[in-house]
Amino acid sequence: MKLWGGRFTKETNKLVDDFNASISFDQRFYEQDIKGSIAHVTMLATQGIVSDDEKDMIIAGLEGILADIRSGKLEITNEYEDIHSFVESNLIERIGDAGKKLHTGRSRNDQVALDMRLYIRSEVEETDALLKDLLKVILRIMKENIDTYMPGFTHLQKAQPLTLAHHFGAYFEMFRRDRGRLCDIHERMNYCPLGAGALAGTTYPLNREYTAELLDFKGATNNSMDSVSDRDYVIEYLCALSIIMMHLSRFCEELILWNTNEFHFVEMDDAFSTGSSIMPQKKNPDVAELIRGKTGRVYGDLLALLTTMKGLPLAYNKDMQEDKEAFFDSRDTLIKSLTVFTAMLRTVTFRTEDMERGAAGGFTNATDLADYLVRQGVPFRDAHRVVGELVAHCLSENKAILDLSLPELQAFHPAFQSDVYEAISLKACIERRAIPGAPAPDMVEQSIQEARSRLSKESVH
Ligand code: ARG
Repeated sequence: MKLWGGRFTKETNKLVDDFNASISFDQRFYEQDIKGSIAHVTMLATQGIVSDDEKDMIIAGLEGILADIRSGKLEITNEYEDIHSFVESNLIERIGDAGKKLHTGRSRNDQVALDMRLYIRSEVEETDALLKDLLKVILRIMKENIDTYMPGFTHLQKAQPLTLAHHFGAYFEMFRRDRGRLCDIHERMNYCPLGAGALAGTTYPLNREYTAELLDFKGATNNSMDSVSDRDYVIEYLCALSIIMMHLSRFCEELILWNTNEFHFVEMDDAFSTGSSIMPQKKNPDVAELIRGKTGRVYGDLLALLTTMKGLPLAYNKDMQEDKEAFFDSRDTLIKSLTVFTAMLRTVTFRTEDMERGAAGGFTNATDLADYLVRQGVPFRDAHRVVGELVAHCLSENKAILDLSLPELQAFHPAFQSDVYEAISLKACIERRAIPGAPAPDMVEQSIQEARSRLSKESVH
């Protein structure tokens, strides 16, 4: 059942029907498509392009279709090319000739651009809400672990001590920036393309601003050609999703590592772990691994759409139909990943004693020892060399710095005094890092306060 049979003398080849159709995936737009049509016909009536009676019949028909699809009474079937044809054909079947006026002053090109925008706009809002839930869990864990010491790493080698709260604070910032990105996208995409027609506007006196207002947009888009050929917002959204997935993936990688026997920093909950069919002892972090793995497919969708768009001349080309499956795939992947990740994180147990033990070993206080010498008036570069020699000595003796006696220390530099032991204790190493953005408990406490108040204020709309 086609909307465009008039100029053709032959039936479309079955292979073409199948290849060309988008209804198997764009049926997910039915709510948006019908909402958009109701706004369009409301505007057509206020402009005197259709009568009020016709408008009322069309709206009643569309609302009936919507209710029937929702209740399952009306099934969306593959005999139609796309969701737009499905709704319009059903409308005409239900209300007769008035239904044939719905598409006045409109093309599927501006219609699909509208549906996609409406869909993505609400997805941006949903993604933002899920991120907010995750941020709340992260904040809770931070609050509980301001004094949980752990080693910080660079090159995956022990570097300097910090706290679990501080480590999680880094993820807090990442996901907070993700929300900022969604906010920017929302702001930029929130304009209505209806009225752009196929590419060159229309000859009817449409009130584009009114349609935009009915659909809660900030206004109408500017250029009709751009309106039908712009998919920047889909790409921006896929890009934002890719970055969110990247953040989740890094977080997952750390949890996987921390969950190993070797690290032993966390224990994943049984409800979020899986077993092995052969090795009875196994408890695997499959959820975290899958999220890490699925990140690749979201990147793939982004790259696919960028590539699809790169050679397209203005204005609409059918290539652009390819945006939908990439978008839906990424959207579904993200929603599932984010939801299960937040649920999993809520249940993770932190082995704080092992973390603290880890923080103490591996010369994580070496920088602080150099800083001690600096406070005694030794230039930093000299202090660095002295401590390097001291570490080499400890390694050959299999000792920690704190195991050395004062005379032993003084053999490396006379500036060492008895207060050195306190100065490089784990507690001092962390508490002395007391500048904004650093792990000292007071600083982290402050950033938690600030984060909490920002969290309640910020959202995409
Ligand atoms: N299914 C099409 C798409 O997703 C709808 C627009 C069709 N327009 C056209 N001129 N064939 O892009």
